[in-house]
Amino acid sequence: MSKKAKMILEKDFKISEIDNRIYGSFVEHLGRAVYGGIYEPGHPQADEMGFRQDVIEMVKELQVPLVRYPGGNFVSGYNWEDGVGPVEQRPRRLDLAWRTTETNEIGTNEFMKWAKLVNAEVNMAVNLGTRGIDAARSLVEYMNHPGGSYYSDLRISHGIKEPYNVKTWCLGNEMDGPWQIGHKTAVEYGRIAQEAAKVMKWVDPNIELVACGSSNRSMPTFADWEATVLDHTYDHVEFISLHQYYGNYDNEISNYLAMSLEMDDFIQSVISIADYIKAKKRGKKKINLSFDEWNVWYHSKEQDKLIEPWSVAPPQLEDVYNFEDALLVGCMLITLLKHADRVKIACLAQLVNVIAPIMTEENGPAWKQTIFYPYMHTSVYGRGVALNPIVSSPKYDSKDFTDVPLLESTAVYNEENEQLTIFAVNRDLQEGLHLECDIRNFEGYKIVEHIVLENDEIKQTNSAQGTPVAPHTNGNAVVENGLVTAVLPKLSWNVIRLAKK
Ligand code: AHR
Repeated sequence: MSKKAKMILEKDFKISEIDNRIYGSFVEHLGRAVYGGIYEPGHPQADEMGFRQDVIEMVKELQVPLVRYPGGNFVSGYNWEDGVGPVEQRPRRLDLAWRTTETNEIGTNEFMKWAKLVNAEVNMAVNLGTRGIDAARSLVEYMNHPGGSYYSDLRISHGIKEPYNVKTWCLGNEMDGPWQIGHKTAVEYGRIAQEAAKVMKWVDPNIELVACGSSNRSMPTFADWEATVLDHTYDHVEFISLHQYYGNYDNEISNYLAMSLEMDDFIQSVISIADYIKAKKRGKKKINLSFDEWNVWYHSKEQDKLIEPWSVAPPQLEDVYNFEDALLVGCMLITLLKHADRVKIACLAQLVNVIAPIMTEENGPAWKQTIFYPYMHTSVYGRGVALNPIVSSPKYDSKDFTDVPLLESTAVYNEENEQLTIFAVNRDLQEGLHLECDIRNFEGYKIVEHIVLENDEIKQTNSAQGTPVAPHTNGNAVVENGLVTAVLPKLSWNVIRLAKK
Protein backbone atom coordinates (compact mmCIF):
# COMPACT_ATOMS: atom_id res chain seq x y z
CA MET A 1 0.00 0.00 0.00
CA SER A 2 1.64 3.27 -1.12
CA LYS A 3 1.75 6.36 1.05
CA LYS A 4 -1.02 8.94 0.71
CA ALA A 5 -1.06 12.71 0.31
CA LYS A 6 -4.01 15.06 0.06
CA MET A 7 -4.71 18.41 -1.49
CA ILE A 8 -7.76 20.67 -1.43
CA LEU A 9 -8.18 23.25 -4.18
CA GLU A 10 -10.78 26.01 -4.06
CA LYS A 11 -11.20 28.61 -6.78
CA ASP A 12 -11.38 31.33 -4.16
CA PHE A 13 -8.30 30.26 -2.18
CA LYS A 14 -5.88 32.44 -4.10
CA ILE A 15 -2.34 33.52 -3.42
CA SER A 16 -2.19 36.02 -6.25
CA GLU A 17 -2.30 36.62 -9.96
CA ILE A 18 1.01 35.31 -11.30
CA ASP A 19 3.33 37.86 -12.84
CA ASN A 20 4.55 36.08 -15.98
CA ARG A 21 7.99 37.53 -15.37
CA ILE A 22 8.61 34.80 -12.79
CA TYR A 23 9.37 32.56 -15.78
CA GLY A 24 12.24 34.81 -16.83
CA SER A 25 15.77 33.72 -17.61
CA PHE A 26 19.22 35.21 -18.02
CA VAL A 27 21.86 35.62 -20.74
CA GLU A 28 25.23 36.90 -19.59
CA HIS A 29 28.33 37.66 -21.61
CA LEU A 30 29.93 34.60 -20.09
CA GLY A 31 31.31 31.40 -21.56
CA ARG A 32 29.35 30.25 -24.60
CA ALA A 33 26.05 31.87 -23.63
CA VAL A 34 26.23 34.59 -26.26
CA TYR A 35 29.08 33.57 -28.58
CA GLY A 36 28.48 29.97 -29.64
CA GLY A 37 25.12 29.95 -27.85
CA ILE A 38 22.52 32.37 -29.14
CA TYR A 39 24.98 33.66 -31.78
CA GLU A 40 27.07 31.52 -34.08
CA PRO A 41 27.49 33.03 -37.54
CA GLY A 42 28.43 30.32 -39.98
CA HIS A 43 26.32 27.70 -38.21
CA PRO A 44 23.99 25.94 -40.67
CA GLN A 45 21.01 27.16 -38.64
CA ALA A 46 22.18 30.77 -38.27
CA ASP A 47 19.99 33.52 -39.68
CA GLU A 48 21.35 36.55 -41.55
CA MET A 49 22.30 38.17 -38.21
CA GLY A 50 24.15 35.09 -37.02
CA PHE A 51 21.51 34.01 -34.49
CA ARG A 52 20.97 30.26 -34.23
CA GLN A 53 17.40 29.50 -35.18
CA ASP A 54 17.44 26.11 -33.48
CA VAL A 55 18.16 27.93 -30.20
CA ILE A 56 15.48 30.51 -30.92
CA GLU A 57 12.96 27.72 -31.44
CA MET A 58 13.82 26.10 -28.10
CA VAL A 59 13.62 29.43 -26.26
CA LYS A 60 10.20 29.95 -27.82
CA GLU A 61 9.13 26.49 -26.63
CA LEU A 62 9.99 27.68 -23.13
CA GLN A 63 7.92 30.85 -23.66
CA VAL A 64 10.50 32.91 -21.78
CA PRO A 65 8.85 36.26 -21.08
CA LEU A 66 11.88 38.16 -19.78
CA VAL A 67 15.66 37.83 -20.16
CA ARG A 68 18.15 39.50 -17.84
CA TYR A 69 21.19 40.92 -19.68
CA PRO A 70 24.22 41.45 -19.96
CA GLY A 71 25.24 40.16 -16.50
CA GLY A 72 25.86 38.99 -13.83
CA ASN A 73 29.40 39.60 -12.71
CA PHE A 74 30.25 40.69 -16.25
CA VAL A 75 28.15 43.85 -16.01
CA SER A 76 30.27 45.26 -13.18
CA GLY A 77 33.16 45.87 -15.59
CA TYR A 78 31.15 46.53 -18.75
CA ASN A 79 31.15 49.76 -20.74
CA TRP A 80 27.86 49.64 -22.61
CA GLU A 81 29.26 52.12 -25.13
CA ASP A 82 31.75 49.41 -26.28
CA GLY A 83 28.85 47.34 -27.59
CA VAL A 84 27.04 49.86 -29.79
CA GLY A 85 27.83 51.38 -33.18
CA PRO A 86 29.83 49.85 -36.02
CA VAL A 87 30.95 46.35 -35.02
CA GLU A 88 34.39 46.68 -36.67
CA GLN A 89 35.17 49.66 -34.43
CA ARG A 90 34.28 47.95 -31.17
CA PRO A 91 37.14 47.29 -28.74
CA ARG A 92 38.25 43.91 -27.48
CA ARG A 93 38.34 44.12 -23.68
CA LEU A 94 39.57 41.98 -20.85
CA ASP A 95 36.61 40.74 -18.84
CA LEU A 96 38.03 40.63 -15.33
CA ALA A 97 34.96 38.92 -13.89
CA TRP A 98 35.47 35.70 -15.84
CA ARG A 99 39.10 36.23 -17.00
CA THR A 100 38.16 36.06 -20.65
CA THR A 101 38.32 38.37 -23.67
CA GLU A 102 35.13 40.15 -24.72
CA THR A 103 35.02 40.97 -28.44
CA ASN A 104 31.90 43.14 -28.19
CA GLU A 105 30.61 41.69 -31.44
CA ILE A 106 27.25 41.43 -29.72
CA GLY A 107 26.03 44.42 -27.74
CA THR A 108 22.81 46.06 -26.65
CA ASN A 109 21.16 46.52 -30.06
CA GLU A 110 21.99 43.03 -31.31
CA PHE A 111 20.69 41.54 -28.09
CA MET A 112 17.48 43.56 -28.29
CA LYS A 113 16.96 42.19 -31.82
CA TRP A 114 17.44 38.65 -30.54
CA ALA A 115 15.03 39.22 -27.64
CA LYS A 116 12.41 40.38 -30.12
CA LEU A 117 12.89 37.19 -32.13
CA VAL A 118 12.13 35.08 -29.05
CA ASN A 119 9.26 37.37 -27.93
CA ALA A 120 10.95 38.28 -24.66
CA GLU A 121 11.27 41.54 -22.77
CA VAL A 122 14.71 42.48 -21.51
CA ASN A 123 15.66 43.03 -17.88
CA MET A 124 18.62 45.35 -18.36
CA ALA A 125 21.42 45.61 -15.81
CA VAL A 126 23.58 48.71 -15.36
CA ASN A 127 27.18 48.73 -14.19
CA LEU A 128 27.49 50.02 -10.63
CA GLY A 129 30.92 48.41 -10.19
CA THR A 130 33.38 50.38 -12.31
CA ARG A 131 30.81 52.89 -13.53
CA GLY A 132 28.03 54.77 -11.80
CA ILE A 133 25.09 57.11 -12.17
CA ASP A 134 26.39 58.81 -15.31
CA ALA A 135 26.70 55.60 -17.38
CA ALA A 136 23.42 54.34 -15.95
CA ARG A 137 21.39 57.41 -16.89
CA SER A 138 23.08 57.57 -20.33
CA LEU A 139 22.07 53.98 -21.05
CA VAL A 140 18.45 54.69 -20.09
CA GLU A 141 18.55 57.72 -22.37
CA TYR A 142 20.11 55.66 -25.19
CA MET A 143 17.51 52.92 -24.89
CA ASN A 144 14.32 54.66 -23.83
CA HIS A 145 14.36 58.32 -24.82
CA PRO A 146 12.52 58.97 -28.12
CA GLY A 147 15.07 61.37 -29.65
CA GLY A 148 16.44 64.90 -29.66
CA SER A 149 19.17 64.33 -27.08
CA TYR A 150 22.78 63.14 -27.40
CA TYR A 151 22.30 59.48 -26.47
CA SER A 152 18.86 58.98 -28.02
CA ASP A 153 20.17 60.49 -31.26
CA LEU A 154 23.20 58.22 -31.02
CA ARG A 155 20.82 55.24 -30.93
CA ILE A 156 18.95 56.63 -33.95
CA SER A 157 22.28 57.05 -35.76
CA HIS A 158 22.89 53.36 -35.03
CA GLY A 159 19.76 52.53 -37.02
CA ILE A 160 17.26 52.18 -34.15
CA LYS A 161 14.61 54.82 -34.67
CA GLU A 162 12.10 53.85 -32.01
CA PRO A 163 12.98 53.75 -28.31
CA TYR A 164 12.98 50.30 -26.75
CA ASN A 165 11.10 51.39 -23.62
CA VAL A 166 12.81 48.74 -21.53
CA LYS A 167 10.77 48.54 -18.36
CA THR A 168 12.79 46.54 -15.83
CA TRP A 169 16.34 47.50 -14.81
CA CYS A 170 18.80 46.00 -12.34
CA LEU A 171 20.93 48.38 -10.30
CA GLY A 172 24.19 46.46 -10.62
CA ASN A 173 24.85 42.85 -9.67
CA GLU A 174 25.84 41.08 -6.43
CA MET A 175 27.51 44.18 -5.06
CA ASP A 176 27.88 42.51 -1.62
CA GLY A 177 30.32 39.91 -2.98
CA PRO A 178 34.10 40.40 -2.65
CA TRP A 179 34.45 38.72 -6.07
CA GLN A 180 32.50 41.55 -7.67
CA ILE A 181 34.37 44.22 -9.62
CA GLY A 182 33.73 47.31 -7.52
CA HIS A 183 32.45 45.38 -4.47
CA LYS A 184 30.82 47.73 -1.98
CA THR A 185 29.64 47.89 1.60
CA ALA A 186 25.88 48.08 2.07
CA VAL A 187 26.06 51.82 2.75
CA GLU A 188 28.30 52.47 -0.27
CA TYR A 189 26.00 50.45 -2.50
CA GLY A 190 22.83 51.84 -0.94
CA ARG A 191 23.93 55.38 -1.71
CA ILE A 192 25.03 54.77 -5.30
CA ALA A 193 21.93 52.68 -6.03
CA GLN A 194 19.73 55.42 -4.59
CA GLU A 195 21.33 58.12 -6.73
CA ALA A 196 21.46 55.99 -9.87
CA ALA A 197 17.80 55.02 -9.40
CA LYS A 198 16.79 58.62 -8.90
CA VAL A 199 18.36 59.91 -12.09
CA MET A 200 17.44 56.86 -14.18
CA LYS A 201 13.81 57.60 -13.30
CA TRP A 202 14.32 61.26 -14.07
CA VAL A 203 15.24 60.16 -17.59
CA ASP A 204 12.33 57.71 -17.79
CA PRO A 205 9.74 57.70 -14.99
CA ASN A 206 8.11 54.56 -16.38
CA ILE A 207 10.92 52.18 -15.51
CA GLU A 208 10.96 49.70 -12.62
CA LEU A 209 14.13 49.16 -10.64
CA VAL A 210 15.66 46.21 -8.84
CA ALA A 211 18.14 46.87 -6.03
CA CYS A 212 20.76 44.20 -5.31
CA GLY A 213 20.02 41.98 -2.37
CA SER A 214 22.53 39.47 -1.07
CA SER A 215 24.37 37.12 -3.44
CA ASN A 216 22.97 34.20 -1.47
CA ARG A 217 21.50 33.40 1.92
CA SER A 218 24.89 32.33 3.34
CA MET A 219 26.57 35.69 2.86
CA PRO A 220 27.79 36.97 6.25
CA THR A 221 26.11 40.31 5.58
CA PHE A 222 22.74 38.78 4.60
CA ALA A 223 19.73 40.49 6.16
CA ASP A 224 21.68 43.56 7.32
CA TRP A 225 22.60 44.13 3.68
CA GLU A 226 18.95 44.08 2.54
CA ALA A 227 17.85 46.33 5.41
CA THR A 228 20.57 48.93 4.78
CA VAL A 229 20.15 48.91 1.00
CA LEU A 230 16.38 49.28 1.23
CA ASP A 231 16.73 51.97 3.87
CA HIS A 232 18.52 54.02 1.21
CA THR A 233 16.57 52.99 -1.85
CA TYR A 234 13.00 52.39 -0.59
CA ASP A 235 11.55 55.48 -2.27
CA HIS A 236 13.19 54.76 -5.61
CA VAL A 237 12.95 51.03 -6.29
CA GLU A 238 10.22 48.45 -6.78
CA PHE A 239 12.23 45.27 -6.16
CA ILE A 240 15.00 43.73 -4.11
CA SER A 241 16.89 40.85 -5.71
CA LEU A 242 17.65 37.33 -4.44
CA HIS A 243 20.19 34.90 -5.87
CA GLN A 244 20.63 31.24 -4.93
CA TYR A 245 22.25 28.17 -6.46
CA TYR A 246 22.21 24.65 -5.02
CA GLY A 247 24.33 21.54 -5.52
CA ASN A 248 24.25 17.93 -4.36
CA TYR A 249 27.78 18.10 -2.98
CA ASP A 250 27.24 15.31 -0.42
CA ASN A 251 25.40 13.09 -2.87
CA GLU A 252 22.43 12.72 -0.51
CA ILE A 253 19.35 12.94 -2.65
CA SER A 254 16.75 13.29 0.12
CA ASN A 255 18.65 16.22 1.55
CA TYR A 256 19.30 17.70 -1.89
CA LEU A 257 15.62 17.64 -2.88
CA ALA A 258 14.75 19.42 0.36
CA MET A 259 16.85 22.46 -0.52
CA SER A 260 13.79 24.23 -1.93
CA LEU A 261 12.68 24.54 1.71
CA GLU A 262 15.70 26.72 2.29
CA MET A 263 14.73 28.77 -0.77
CA ASP A 264 11.29 29.18 0.78
CA ASP A 265 12.81 30.37 4.03
CA PHE A 266 15.10 32.76 2.15
CA ILE A 267 12.09 34.29 0.35
CA GLN A 268 10.15 34.66 3.60
CA SER A 269 13.12 36.32 5.28
CA VAL A 270 13.54 38.87 2.48
CA ILE A 271 9.80 39.64 2.55
CA SER A 272 10.11 40.30 6.30
CA ILE A 273 13.05 42.64 5.80
CA ALA A 274 11.29 44.53 3.01
CA ASP A 275 8.20 44.88 5.20
CA TYR A 276 10.30 46.00 8.17
CA ILE A 277 11.71 48.86 6.10
CA LYS A 278 8.21 49.72 4.87
CA ALA A 279 7.05 49.88 8.50
CA LYS A 280 10.08 51.89 9.56
CA LYS A 281 9.36 54.45 6.87
CA ARG A 282 5.61 54.40 7.43
CA GLY A 283 5.59 53.62 3.73
CA LYS A 284 2.68 52.64 1.54
CA LYS A 285 4.67 50.78 -1.09
CA LYS A 286 5.39 47.06 -0.83
CA ILE A 287 8.82 46.17 -2.16
CA ASN A 288 8.50 43.04 -4.25
CA LEU A 289 11.09 40.33 -4.85
CA SER A 290 13.08 39.65 -7.99
CA PHE A 291 14.65 36.20 -7.66
CA ASP A 292 16.79 37.04 -10.64
CA GLU A 293 19.32 34.21 -10.36
CA TRP A 294 18.33 30.72 -9.29
CA ASN A 295 19.28 27.23 -10.38
CA VAL A 296 21.50 24.24 -9.67
CA TRP A 297 25.19 25.07 -10.18
CA TYR A 298 27.99 22.78 -9.05
CA HIS A 299 28.80 20.15 -11.68
CA SER A 300 31.20 22.35 -13.65
CA LYS A 301 33.12 24.02 -10.80
CA GLU A 302 36.22 21.80 -11.05
CA GLN A 303 36.50 21.76 -14.82
CA ASP A 304 36.22 25.56 -14.91
CA LYS A 305 39.51 25.83 -13.02
CA LEU A 306 41.24 24.49 -16.15
CA ILE A 307 40.02 27.23 -18.49
CA GLU A 308 42.81 29.10 -20.29
CA PRO A 309 42.69 32.74 -19.10
CA TRP A 310 41.69 35.41 -21.60
CA SER A 311 40.20 33.01 -24.13
CA VAL A 312 37.19 34.11 -26.17
CA ALA A 313 33.94 32.39 -25.15
CA PRO A 314 35.42 29.28 -23.51
CA PRO A 315 33.05 26.55 -22.22
CA GLN A 316 32.49 27.96 -18.72
CA LEU A 317 29.82 26.89 -16.21
CA GLU A 318 28.64 24.12 -18.55
CA ASP A 319 26.85 22.03 -15.95
CA VAL A 320 25.33 18.91 -17.47
CA TYR A 321 22.18 18.33 -15.46
CA ASN A 322 20.91 14.96 -14.35
CA PHE A 323 17.46 13.72 -13.43
CA GLU A 324 17.65 14.65 -9.73
CA ASP A 325 18.56 18.23 -10.71
CA ALA A 326 15.33 18.42 -12.73
CA LEU A 327 13.39 17.37 -9.63
CA LEU A 328 14.99 20.06 -7.49
CA VAL A 329 14.38 22.66 -10.21
CA GLY A 330 10.73 21.54 -10.21
CA CYS A 331 10.57 22.02 -6.43
CA MET A 332 12.14 25.47 -6.78
CA LEU A 333 9.59 26.48 -9.42
CA ILE A 334 6.77 25.36 -7.13
CA THR A 335 8.36 27.41 -4.34
CA LEU A 336 8.35 30.52 -6.53
CA LEU A 337 4.68 29.95 -7.35
CA LYS A 338 3.85 29.62 -3.66
CA HIS A 339 5.16 33.18 -3.25
CA ALA A 340 3.47 34.63 -6.32
CA ASP A 341 2.11 37.49 -4.21
CA ARG A 342 5.61 38.90 -3.61
CA VAL A 343 7.98 37.25 -6.11
CA LYS A 344 7.08 39.10 -9.28
CA ILE A 345 10.26 38.46 -11.24
CA ALA A 346 12.48 35.39 -11.29
CA CYS A 347 15.22 34.41 -13.72
CA LEU A 348 16.42 30.87 -14.21
CA ALA A 349 20.18 31.36 -14.50
CA GLN A 350 20.96 30.97 -17.24
CA LEU A 351 19.40 30.17 -20.63
CA VAL A 352 21.97 28.80 -23.09
CA ASN A 353 25.16 26.77 -22.42
CA VAL A 354 25.99 28.49 -19.12
CA ILE A 355 24.16 26.58 -16.30
CA ALA A 356 21.37 26.33 -18.80
CA PRO A 357 18.34 24.35 -19.95
CA ILE A 358 19.52 24.65 -23.57
CA MET A 359 22.93 23.46 -24.78
CA THR A 360 24.58 23.80 -28.16
CA GLU A 361 27.38 22.03 -29.99
CA GLU A 362 29.64 24.17 -32.12
CA ASN A 363 28.49 23.70 -35.69
CA GLY A 364 26.20 20.95 -34.37
CA PRO A 365 22.78 20.54 -32.78
CA ALA A 366 21.13 22.24 -29.84
CA TRP A 367 19.76 19.94 -27.15
CA LYS A 368 17.56 20.01 -24.08
CA GLN A 369 18.88 19.44 -20.59
CA THR A 370 16.79 17.61 -17.98
CA ILE A 371 15.84 20.90 -16.30
CA PHE A 372 14.33 22.17 -19.56
CA TYR A 373 11.13 20.25 -18.87
CA PRO A 374 9.93 21.49 -15.46
CA TYR A 375 10.87 25.00 -16.56
CA MET A 376 8.87 24.66 -19.78
CA HIS A 377 5.87 23.06 -18.09
CA THR A 378 5.49 25.79 -15.48
CA SER A 379 6.12 28.58 -17.96
CA VAL A 380 3.58 27.23 -20.44
CA TYR A 381 0.91 25.90 -18.08
CA GLY A 382 1.57 28.02 -15.00
CA ARG A 383 -0.07 31.25 -16.12
CA GLY A 384 -3.05 32.65 -14.30
CA VAL A 385 -3.74 32.65 -10.58
CA ALA A 386 -1.56 30.83 -8.08
CA LEU A 387 -3.94 28.93 -5.84
CA ASN A 388 -3.35 28.37 -2.16
CA PRO A 389 -3.92 24.64 -1.74
CA ILE A 390 -4.29 22.90 1.56
CA VAL A 391 -1.77 20.07 1.42
CA SER A 392 -1.16 17.22 3.80
CA SER A 393 1.68 14.87 3.10
CA PRO A 394 3.86 12.32 4.88
CA LYS A 395 7.14 13.88 5.94
CA TYR A 396 10.77 12.92 6.48
CA ASP A 397 13.90 14.32 8.08
CA SER A 398 17.22 14.68 6.27
CA LYS A 399 20.70 15.86 7.21
CA ASP A 400 19.84 19.57 7.13
CA PHE A 401 16.05 19.60 7.18
CA THR A 402 13.16 18.38 9.30
CA ASP A 403 9.58 17.77 8.26
CA VAL A 404 10.26 17.66 4.55
CA PRO A 405 6.97 16.82 2.79
CA LEU A 406 7.19 13.94 0.34
CA LEU A 407 4.72 15.87 -1.78
CA GLU A 408 5.84 19.28 -3.02
CA SER A 409 2.93 20.74 -4.90
CA THR A 410 0.86 23.69 -5.92
CA ALA A 411 -1.79 24.58 -8.48
CA VAL A 412 -2.50 27.31 -11.01
CA TYR A 413 -5.96 28.31 -12.19
CA ASN A 414 -6.38 30.00 -15.55
CA GLU A 415 -9.87 31.42 -15.41
CA GLU A 416 -9.84 32.73 -18.95
CA ASN A 417 -9.01 29.35 -20.51
CA GLU A 418 -10.89 27.42 -17.81
CA GLN A 419 -7.81 25.36 -17.06
CA LEU A 420 -6.49 24.06 -13.78
CA THR A 421 -2.95 22.68 -13.48
CA ILE A 422 -1.44 20.81 -10.55
CA PHE A 423 2.37 20.76 -10.33
CA ALA A 424 3.74 18.09 -8.03
CA VAL A 425 7.02 16.43 -7.10
CA ASN A 426 7.14 13.14 -5.23
CA ARG A 427 10.35 13.22 -3.19
CA ASP A 428 10.02 9.60 -2.14
CA LEU A 429 13.01 7.50 -3.24
CA GLN A 430 11.25 4.20 -2.69
CA GLU A 431 7.66 4.26 -3.84
CA GLY A 432 4.81 5.99 -5.62
CA LEU A 433 2.71 8.48 -3.68
CA HIS A 434 -1.05 8.17 -3.86
CA LEU A 435 -2.45 11.69 -4.38
CA GLU A 436 -6.05 12.63 -3.66
CA CYS A 437 -6.94 16.14 -4.68
CA ASP A 438 -10.33 17.57 -3.83
CA ILE A 439 -11.26 20.07 -6.55
CA ARG A 440 -14.72 20.77 -5.05
CA ASN A 441 -15.92 23.91 -6.91
CA PHE A 442 -14.14 23.16 -10.20
CA GLU A 443 -17.27 21.55 -11.56
CA GLY A 444 -17.08 19.90 -14.95
CA TYR A 445 -13.27 19.84 -15.00
CA LYS A 446 -11.75 16.79 -16.70
CA ILE A 447 -8.20 15.52 -17.06
CA VAL A 448 -6.48 16.79 -20.20
CA GLU A 449 -3.23 14.95 -19.54
CA HIS A 450 -0.98 13.84 -16.74
CA ILE A 451 2.62 14.57 -17.72
CA VAL A 452 5.32 12.69 -15.81
CA LEU A 453 9.09 13.11 -15.75
CA GLU A 454 10.62 10.01 -14.18
CA ASN A 455 13.72 7.91 -14.61
CA ASP A 456 15.17 4.77 -13.05
CA GLU A 457 18.63 6.32 -13.10
CA ILE A 458 18.87 9.24 -10.76
CA LYS A 459 22.11 10.48 -12.32
CA GLN A 460 20.85 10.11 -15.91
CA THR A 461 21.72 13.09 -18.12
CA ASN A 462 20.74 14.15 -21.63
CA SER A 463 23.17 14.99 -24.42
CA ALA A 464 23.31 15.95 -28.07
CA GLN A 465 23.03 12.24 -28.81
CA GLY A 466 19.71 11.76 -27.04
CA THR A 467 17.31 12.80 -24.31
CA PRO A 468 16.68 9.78 -22.09
CA VAL A 469 15.28 12.19 -19.50
CA ALA A 470 12.12 13.44 -21.19
CA PRO A 471 8.50 13.56 -20.06
CA HIS A 472 5.75 11.16 -21.05
CA THR A 473 1.99 11.59 -20.77
CA ASN A 474 1.12 8.18 -19.37
CA GLY A 475 0.38 9.40 -15.87
CA ASN A 476 -2.71 7.78 -14.39
CA ALA A 477 -4.61 10.79 -13.01
CA VAL A 478 -8.38 10.49 -13.13
CA VAL A 479 -11.17 12.72 -11.89
CA GLU A 480 -14.36 11.42 -10.37
CA ASN A 481 -16.97 13.18 -8.20
CA GLY A 482 -14.78 16.23 -7.72
CA LEU A 483 -11.77 14.18 -6.67
CA VAL A 484 -8.56 13.88 -8.69
CA THR A 485 -6.64 10.72 -7.88
CA ALA A 486 -3.24 9.78 -9.22
CA VAL A 487 -0.18 7.80 -8.30
CA LEU A 488 2.88 10.02 -8.52
CA PRO A 489 5.73 7.61 -9.30
CA LYS A 490 8.70 7.53 -6.92
CA LEU A 491 11.00 10.50 -7.59
CA SER A 492 8.90 12.19 -10.23
CA TRP A 493 7.82 15.56 -11.57
CA ASN A 494 4.12 15.67 -12.44
CA VAL A 495 1.89 18.09 -14.29
CA ILE A 496 -1.79 17.19 -14.01
CA ARG A 497 -3.71 19.32 -16.46
CA LEU A 498 -7.48 19.76 -16.17
CA ALA A 499 -9.90 21.78 -18.23
CA LYS A 500 -13.62 22.40 -18.28
CA LYS A 501 -14.99 20.32 -21.08
O1 AHR B 1 25.10 33.16 -13.19
C1 AHR B 1 26.48 33.06 -12.99
C2 AHR B 1 27.00 34.08 -12.01
O2 AHR B 1 26.51 33.78 -10.74
C3 AHR B 1 26.60 35.50 -12.23
O3 AHR B 1 27.42 36.18 -13.11
C4 AHR B 1 26.72 36.10 -10.86
O4 AHR B 1 25.81 37.15 -10.66
C5 AHR B 1 26.48 34.94 -9.93
O5 AHR B 1 27.44 34.84 -8.96
